[in-house]
Amino acid sequence: KRKHLVAPSVLSADFAHLHDDIVMVNQSEADWFHIDVMDGVFVPNISFGFPVLASIAHYAKKPLDVHLMIVEPQKYIKQFKEAGADNITVHYEACTHLHRTVHAIRELGCTAGVAINPSTPVSHLYEIIDDVDLVLIMSVNPGFGGQKFIEATYRKIRELRAMAADRNADLLIEVDGGVSNHNALALLKAGADVLVAGNAVFSAKNPIHTIAEMKRISPD
Ligand code: DX5
Ligand code: ZN
Repeated sequence: KRKHLVAPSVLSADFAHLHDDIVMVNQSEADWFHIDVMDGVFVPNISFGFPVLASIAHYAKKPLDVHLMIVEPQKYIKQFKEAGADNITVHYEACTHLHRTVHAIRELGCTAGVAINPSTPVSHLYEIIDDVDLVLIMSVNPGFGGQKFIEATYRKIRELRAMAADRNADLLIEVDGGVSNHNALALLKAGADVLVAGNAVFSAKNPIHTIAEMKRISPD
């Protein structure tokens, strides 16, 4: 059985002391940095862009998992790669030509992910799962950290796990939004591979310890 990954979401970091938070993640048992890019159009919030990503990449010692909550992501994937992205995830809802976009991401040498909003059914991924390395299931409406986890996510994870098994698709299932050490076990049991956690990590008294706990949770 493969071990799950933990990806702290930098959106919840202290941007005035970003270096401290990067060092914390480097020293922790976390697997990836999760980087949320928001454009104020696809989602009702604006986070940060290339210069901040490049600065994070300079100090990060783990892969950068870049989650693009922007319209027309295909226009910017090369710049995200150049700024240091290892995985680039685009939203299903933001891509008219999703197949072309995920292949363009892979041609740049990145792994490719596709994200779905809470209202988008897993069945819409049927024609793309052979072409992606990762599917990100949003467990809150994207735009903000610290929101309440949507319970219907468990069913969506199980449905995607079954679809992937059926099709022999080798993909990671990532869950993002309201994830904490309270629901991590249930998410892993449902079939999640990657747990993204913003608030749960960065608001913790001891983030390193919280990450270690999340890594230690076992579904078996
Ligand atoms: C939300 C972002 C998430 C966010 C998660 O739009 O995609 O990655 O940072 O934050 P928490 O874990 O606080 O819900
Ligand atoms: Zn995210």
